[in-house]
Amino acid sequence: MISRNMPMCQAVLEHYRLLPLLPRFNIRLGFGEKCVEEVCRLNHVTTEFFMEISNAYLDDDYIPQTDLSLFPLGDLVGYLTSTHHYYLEVAIPKIERKIHQLLDGSALSEKERGLVSGFFDDYRKEFLEHVSREDKLVLPYILELEKEYMKEKPDAEFMKRLQVYTIRDFAREHDRLETSLENLSRLIIKYLPPFEDFDLCHQVLTDLSDLVRDLIDHAHMEDKVLVPRVAEIEQHLLRKSEAG
Ligand SMILES: [Fe+2]
Ligand SMILES: [Fe+2]
Repeated sequence: MISRNMPMCQAVLEHYRLLPLLPRFNIRLGFGEKCVEEVCRLNHVTTEFFMEISNAYLDDDYIPQTDLSLFPLGDLVGYLTSTHHYYLEVAIPKIERKIHQLLDGSALSEKERGLVSGFFDDYRKEFLEHVSREDKLVLPYILELEKEYMKEKPDAEFMKRLQVYTIRDFAREHDRLETSLENLSRLIIKYLPPFEDFDLCHQVLTDLSDLVRDLIDHAHMEDKVLVPRVAEIEQHLLRKSEAG
């Protein structure tokens, strides 16, 4: 677990899994003696928010110290957006590159190669659709909702839309992205003939498993933290407009 007075260097050395989180907060290395709190302050990140997100990420059984619902929704939306960016720009292309490298140097039949690359292509498409729906529709909607919530009198058009679509509709259709990835690992470990380049194969499986873990944390943030919080604000707005 990381705490506010811990040197940031120590936090990272003790918890290497923190590394992919840092760019999502725009935090760069070269911490010197600075503690977690100082690094956060210098990078305009709310320390409590950083600690809650990081500790939940590092430990599945972590019990939040500060209620995540106390932070502005904008912080959470910003974090989820940067995470999407990380998946699309870093994690997925990296795995894709390594998978192709692995297939190129393998003795697999054409059919077997086609199976793996086809599987990954389909996955990339599914992933892109999922994330762009959130980036283009769901997250902007949440920011708008928070803005309307702050107003004395919410916009009539917005309230009309709220009667038809709420975050619960999104949650009902929100599917999991990690399941197909686990199937890809299973395909490699269980069914395909062994790859000559075991080191590269190991890297691919490690990258896949890191991404699966990251996606589980991400879905948890969306389903268990974001959705209930947004639903609560929606209910509040709807009650207010009924009363008024
Ligand atoms: Fe997402
Ligand atoms: Fe999602």
